[in-house]
Amino acid sequence: MIAELQHAVALRAPATADADELFARVDACRKTLRAWLPWVDATRSPDDSRAFLESVSAGKSPAWLIEVDGRIGGMIDIHGICKVNRIGHIGYWLADGHVGRGIMQQALSRVQAIAFDELGLHRLAIIAARENRRSCAAAERQGFKLEGVLREHLLLDGRRWDACHYGLLASERRAG
Ligand SMILES: CC(C)(COP(=O)(O)OP(=O)(O)OC[C@H]1O[C@@H](n2cnc3c(N)ncnc32)[C@H](O)[C@@H]1OP(=O)(O)O)[C@@H](O)C(=O)NCCC(=O)NCCS
Repeated sequence: MIAELQHAVALRAPATADADELFARVDACRKTLRAWLPWVDATRSPDDSRAFLESVSAGKSPAWLIEVDGRIGGMIDIHGICKVNRIGHIGYWLADGHVGRGIMQQALSRVQAIAFDELGLHRLAIIAARENRRSCAAAERQGFKLEGVLREHLLLDGRRWDACHYGLLASERRAG
């Protein structure tokens, strides 16, 4: 019996020097990603990825590259942070070859630790199209609770989609 290899998953802050590799990853998976992420069609060249990475460095929303075995495998961020209410939203994606291996679970639990322990947030949210089964399942696996359905909240490829709104309180965070 061959034991399945455990992938080394790490989060690291992105730099503009990552633009070429990041673009290559998005470009290779654009068919899958564009179904659920509105920025994919506007990402047409490494320069677009460079501009995105510059905006991440200049902005106030923390974002991390998800490195799998030392190569960029996706991204995760906390956006829309409100310091008054101590809340934030998590967004994420994985390249096709990394889906279905629990990699986002590892990334999400690290980002939860950063959000609750380091940034002092009280509440995190994830919003995913109701038909985005994998994203809804990833949120639910992490203990996020479905708090409601936002009708026609997302506009993707010219079509309106209902969105599941998930929330997790700091007190509900699972150990580990
Ligand atoms: C959403 C997305 C990140 C989910 O990726 P994922 O790999 O399914 O996420 P998880 O880390 O939760 O992995 C769960 C899968 O890994 C499997 N798995 C393997 N080892 C595992 C482990 N140790 N722990 C948990 N799950 C494991 C699970 O069985 C499950 O696979 P299955 O659904 O085929 O049964 C990915 O589908 C994606 O990038 N989609 C396109 C972009 C997108 O939709 N972004 C979100 C917009 S809201």
